[in-house]
Amino acid sequence: MHPPRRLCSLLGGVFLIFFCFFYVADHFDYRYYVRTAVATQDYEGQPSQEDDPVRLTALGHALLNDTTDPSHWTVVHDRRVARDKKRRQCKKKYAKCNKLSTDPEPPLNVFGDANGDNNSTSTGESLEDASLSSQFAQRGYTVVGTNVSAVRRLPDVLIIGAKKSGTRALLAFLRVHPSIRASGPEIHYFDRFYSRGLSWYRSQLPLSLEGQLTVEKTPAYFTTPGVPARVKADLPTARLLLVVRNPVTRALSDYTQSLSKHRSRRAFEELVFVKSSSGLVNSEWGPISGGLYAKHLKRWLAYFPRSSIHIVSGENLIVDPAAELCKVQEFLGLRRVITDKHFFFNATKGFPCLVKREKTGRPHCLGSSKGRSHPPVSQTTYNILRDFYRPFNFKFYKMIGQNLHW
Ligand code: A3P
Repeated sequence: MHPPRRLCSLLGGVFLIFFCFFYVADHFDYRYYVRTAVATQDYEGQPSQEDDPVRLTALGHALLNDTTDPSHWTVVHDRRVARDKKRRQCKKKYAKCNKLSTDPEPPLNVFGDANGDNNSTSTGESLEDASLSSQFAQRGYTVVGTNVSAVRRLPDVLIIGAKKSGTRALLAFLRVHPSIRASGPEIHYFDRFYSRGLSWYRSQLPLSLEGQLTVEKTPAYFTTPGVPARVKADLPTARLLLVVRNPVTRALSDYTQSLSKHRSRRAFEELVFVKSSSGLVNSEWGPISGGLYAKHLKRWLAYFPRSSIHIVSGENLIVDPAAELCKVQEFLGLRRVITDKHFFFNATKGFPCLVKREKTGRPHCLGSSKGRSHPPVSQTTYNILRDFYRPFNFKFYKMIGQNLHW
């Protein structure tokens, strides 16, 4: 090839690579909170299902939460969002961006002024955060704060157990609330990975805004000795949620879960007694010991006051999830957002499901590992177990000040 031509194609290639690189980098340079939506200048009226987050553009008011229900969007005031928008617009128009100062574009008053003039604008300085919040709040949005720094925070709330009592359902339902940010998988920090340190723990938690509560669920915390002391040391003001269900059903559920992992397991009735024919319940066996709620709770009460522990009825979570969630929201000091309208009963699954999942906006039932059918046990075995648990249950009722009628 002719040397100048070779040079040209080489330069062209380099230019193309750089162009692609910057284009892709820019495309992904969306901050977490800009990903969802922000209000438009001409947006008016109450939040409605028709609102399309994609249609809404950045004017310095970011709406969080990956939900399609606008009444669950979370409003934050973000000057950087406005700056980003200007930068993108600027690029779109092929205009020179060097005029772009670090000063924010004045955020627009999304709802117009008091006279209803939607074209009016006001500067970021004149638009006080408080008045901004109240404007959004009046429109039915949940305003969680004006601090835009989305960071990973240590949990405010722990779902500590009990295993197989409905902990996943509680977490899934709580997530619907815009003021809740929750980790997906169980982190097991306080029982298994404590040596990894708090910064590791923090890195496993979701981003949240000031005013939002970070929730983590690891049901093994409830039964692991030593965990309450660790939680007290690291999260002294944590609020604890404990889901409990009839310990006999819980034992069967626990056994069913282990059966799904180890196919060749012996029958429940072989394992539940010290000797098959003795009728003496093996209280050391995991599925049984996990239901000795009084014993485990005692350890927690040595470190946390009763007032920082809220008991959720696993039975009621199935029969009337809205009622249980109402109590949980009250305990956490949250606005009552999760109500009856969020649930429907799926007859095929035999459990309540969410009308809309917080991320997809589509109906959502828990997976097939939740709501399994249990192996049948004889009435005699059931009665022995019920009698075995009775004194422990009464002790537990006394501790929590509530009779759960098991
Ligand atoms: P089973 O699978 O034995 O029926 P956890 O999430 O703590 O592991 O608890 C699992 C249990 O949650 C399930 O036990 C099921 O009974 C109960 N559960 C409560 N609400 C549920 C829901 N909406 N969908 C499915 N399972 C639910």
